[in-house]
Amino acid sequence: MKIHKHPIGFFDSGVGGTSIWKEVISLLPNENSIYLSDSINAPYGEKSKTQIIDLCLKNTEFLLNQNCKLIVVACNTATTNAIDFLREKYPIPFIGIEPAIKPAALTTKTNTIGILATKGTLNSSLFEKTSSSFRKNIYIEEIIGKGLVELIENGKLHSKEMTSLLNSYLNPLLKKNIDSLVLGCTHYPYLIPQIREIVGDKINIIDSGEAVAKQTKTILTKFHLLNSNKNIAKHTLYINKNKKVLEQLISERENTSIIEKNF
Ligand code: SIN
Repeated sequence: MKIHKHPIGFFDSGVGGTSIWKEVISLLPNENSIYLSDSINAPYGEKSKTQIIDLCLKNTEFLLNQNCKLIVVACNTATTNAIDFLREKYPIPFIGIEPAIKPAALTTKTNTIGILATKGTLNSSLFEKTSSSFRKNIYIEEIIGKGLVELIENGKLHSKEMTSLLNSYLNPLLKKNIDSLVLGCTHYPYLIPQIREIVGDKINIIDSGEAVAKQTKTILTKFHLLNSNKNIAKHTLYINKNKKVLEQLISERENTSIIEKNF
């Protein structure tokens, strides 16, 4: 098979990275894809850097064995802790996800933005490096979304526990006069309707999906890897725990299968 027909690979600590996967396949409808939901090991955000790197290696090896031509690391925690390592070790392009601080910094009127992310992302040196350049001009209020990923992974997206955790994280941010909220974890876009209920409609909620999809297109184009074949693209999503949770987030679509399997 010609390399441009090979799939794009995606991996995440769980089901949340499908928020990125959806944006990419909608912008690039000819591309085949393989998605790995490493739910058995979620959350990555509470693990050490070494543990995160080891899990990223395992996921990457699986995707390379399936001939992926490019890998989207659809997880902020994995990106901030392991992407440099992956880029150095493997010859294919990797696209990472970083919290979208820049658009928030450029549009804030109160000079204060909030970032909701995992401990692993907020404590990483890559995040520190990116955020410090913006801190000269604006205030960045960080909050760790402890427990949110676990609830989503356990099928409790809409639950009392979720509402109560979100209130406890977002209300203190609102008191600090933020006007933009950056979602620094790929699970969190699934929470946008609930976040909107709490923060109201004056706060700009920013996630990275669209920017990542555009960047994926740019890199595929640059390396002559875009699939111009007009056949219906094939998508396979693997999850190593309870595939029902993934089925609830992904509405049925042609040529898309969800497989529960160890990897
Ligand atoms: C996690 O596994 O802790 C969250 C994934 C992410 O950071 O996007």
